[in-house]
Amino acid sequence: MAILRNDADKTLTLLTKNTMYQMKVDDRGVLEHTYYGKKMEYMDMHYYVECIDGASFSPYPVNDKTDDRYSYNHISQELSTSGVGDFRISAIGLRNTDGSYGCEPRFVSAEIRDGKYSLNGLPAFYGDEAQTLVVTLKDTVYDIYFHLYYGVFEEYDLITRSVVVENKTNASIKLEKALSLTLDMPYGSYDMLYFHGRHTRERILERTRIKHARTTVASVRGASSHMHNPFVVIADKNANEDYGSAWGIALVYSGNFEITAEKNLQEKTRVVAGINTENFNYEVPAGESFTAPEVAMVYSANGFANMSNCFHKAIRNNLCRGKFKNAQRPVLINNWEGTYFDFNADKLVSMAHEAAKMGVELFVMDDGWFGKRDNDRCALGDWTPNEEKLQGTLKSLAERINAEGMKFGIWFEPECISPDSDLYRAHPDYALAMPNRTPQQSRHQYVIDMSRKEVRDNIYNQLAKVLSSANISYVKWDFNRHLTDVYSVELPAEKQGEVYHRYMLGVYELLERILTSFPNVLFESCSGGGGRFDCGMLYYMPQVWTSDNSDAIDRLKIQYGTSFAYPVSTMGAHVSVCPNHQNARITPLKTRGNVAYFGTYGLELDVTKMTDDEKAEIARQIVEFKKHYELIQRGDYYRLISPYPEEESLFCAWEVVKPDGSEALACAVRYESDACTAPEFLKLKGLCENKWYTVNDSKEKYLGSALMNAGIKIPYNFFTYPSTLFHIKEA
Ligand code: DGJ
Repeated sequence: MAILRNDADKTLTLLTKNTMYQMKVDDRGVLEHTYYGKKMEYMDMHYYVECIDGASFSPYPVNDKTDDRYSYNHISQELSTSGVGDFRISAIGLRNTDGSYGCEPRFVSAEIRDGKYSLNGLPAFYGDEAQTLVVTLKDTVYDIYFHLYYGVFEEYDLITRSVVVENKTNASIKLEKALSLTLDMPYGSYDMLYFHGRHTRERILERTRIKHARTTVASVRGASSHMHNPFVVIADKNANEDYGSAWGIALVYSGNFEITAEKNLQEKTRVVAGINTENFNYEVPAGESFTAPEVAMVYSANGFANMSNCFHKAIRNNLCRGKFKNAQRPVLINNWEGTYFDFNADKLVSMAHEAAKMGVELFVMDDGWFGKRDNDRCALGDWTPNEEKLQGTLKSLAERINAEGMKFGIWFEPECISPDSDLYRAHPDYALAMPNRTPQQSRHQYVIDMSRKEVRDNIYNQLAKVLSSANISYVKWDFNRHLTDVYSVELPAEKQGEVYHRYMLGVYELLERILTSFPNVLFESCSGGGGRFDCGMLYYMPQVWTSDNSDAIDRLKIQYGTSFAYPVSTMGAHVSVCPNHQNARITPLKTRGNVAYFGTYGLELDVTKMTDDEKAEIARQIVEFKKHYELIQRGDYYRLISPYPEEESLFCAWEVVKPDGSEALACAVRYESDACTAPEFLKLKGLCENKWYTVNDSKEKYLGSALMNAGIKIPYNFFTYPSTLFHIKEA
């Protein structure tokens, strides 16, 4: 039983394999949050959060239970609101029918259901093996209901939560803030780990102490963005990969978001997460509801590695969908860095011909195949093949690629429109733009108003026509600018605060339609590289182009940061040319391959320009990658040495291990050079202490405990950026 309802104590307890989350209806009917942490025998944890002494200017509700020590400002709550005495961070900001801002939710009912709830129009974890708890609260004054949805995945220690606000009054209410999560943490001192960045430098780890000032990661770009990822870890101040408490919090949403933490007057930390309140203002008409996106949480009592592995399994099995979620995906070559816009069909076929000989299985034609698109200044929106450039129809090109023994894939940027396009000339109103204001351009393009059905229908029809016209096995869905001038011509003035969220709902609806129509196509999400790498997109597309930075050394930090929440199987990773196009670095081809193995592994270069030795090396890599495919994609993941200097190592290293500990693959990459280097040993993880192993088919056998506690020597190579792969197998 994953959900326990104890009517005597008035508690509701969510139990996973190793964690416990509890709430209690107090004697005033408020749903208090009592505990989230390590699993224990059942007890009513209310003693832990009871009224705090020392009111400190904290107001108290006046009713038949008036107690000046009981304040909304003190109690730990499942749903924090504002206006009536809780001065901490709120999740709900609601304007009532009379214009007032107060809201006091009280318990009405709780219902336990088998299976996982789903959310209308929004991505969410799914699974029949999960259980759902729906707790309904109601405001003390108005007929406004809050349905708190909890999903419990016992096996992965994953708990999800969403909020539905239902307006049963007879007039509209306004939601000015509708965050999905309030989490009042246990007493303690915590750090926040978050993943910031920019284009070509995504998900760089930073760690900061949560103090009495608010710590926020957020996006107001209309996409989750490169700048912050909608995922944080709240951790004991001394927690590390293997030690200490860590709470991972991931938003299943791809638009504007915020995650804020603050230590408050009782030295307790509160975290809230959900849609960003900036420019957000949502009308909920009488009789209607608003659904806040889902948040997924994992608690780990023993550090980050366990937390990451829980997320990895849940994302792979219960978030990603479709034919490709567990199937072996084809090794692909993408022509972007190989040709950019400068190609024709003969060029692509010559690349496919060489790539096929090396074992590549899918050829992806990137940007530039449609309209008059020979540069990035035009044609987005005109999804008609350029038959001059393709030297025939799209169908004929796909046939030529197929004849080389390869599948064929294609690039789209469905959410954008070029001012210089036939679509824009015919429908200038399709672009987001404010009245009387010239909209901003970015990469010479505008964003399409995806909140409008008519616009989505147009794009759907164009995409569907292309996808039905040829044998297309793969789509890269790109998005290369952020939202400005957010205004929709279809909505009245007072509803313009809804457009950011309606945009996201529109994108999700379009994606759902396309995926349903083309279930055999593999979709990869992209946004100028990894600008929309989030659980929302992973519900639709099981892999994401991790970064436009394909340099193996920069990728160490990018893939390291990404791995805290997202599994290897979701990380698009390609071998590209040297000097690298983003930073001019020269790295060995072997190292480029070793780093790309721990992603989806593919190529992104002009293979016709490679030497025979290089081609042979790629062919070897493809065989090696496929040999270890299952282990890499589904093994438990360990970050062994971080790519940051505080490790005092010249190496960054990581490992994947079969869950039974019988086999592992580790990789160490030297990213610093040093004369007269001291020996370095790599301490492995996840093996069986008393089993014997070979390393790279060695004659010598090593005890698991020796490999984990003493380590295996990382060979020294006298050149820059060497890397070593260690294949560890039970002897
Ligand atoms: C940005 C992507 O990240 C690249 O891989 C490439 O597809 C370009 N867009 C094409 O414009």
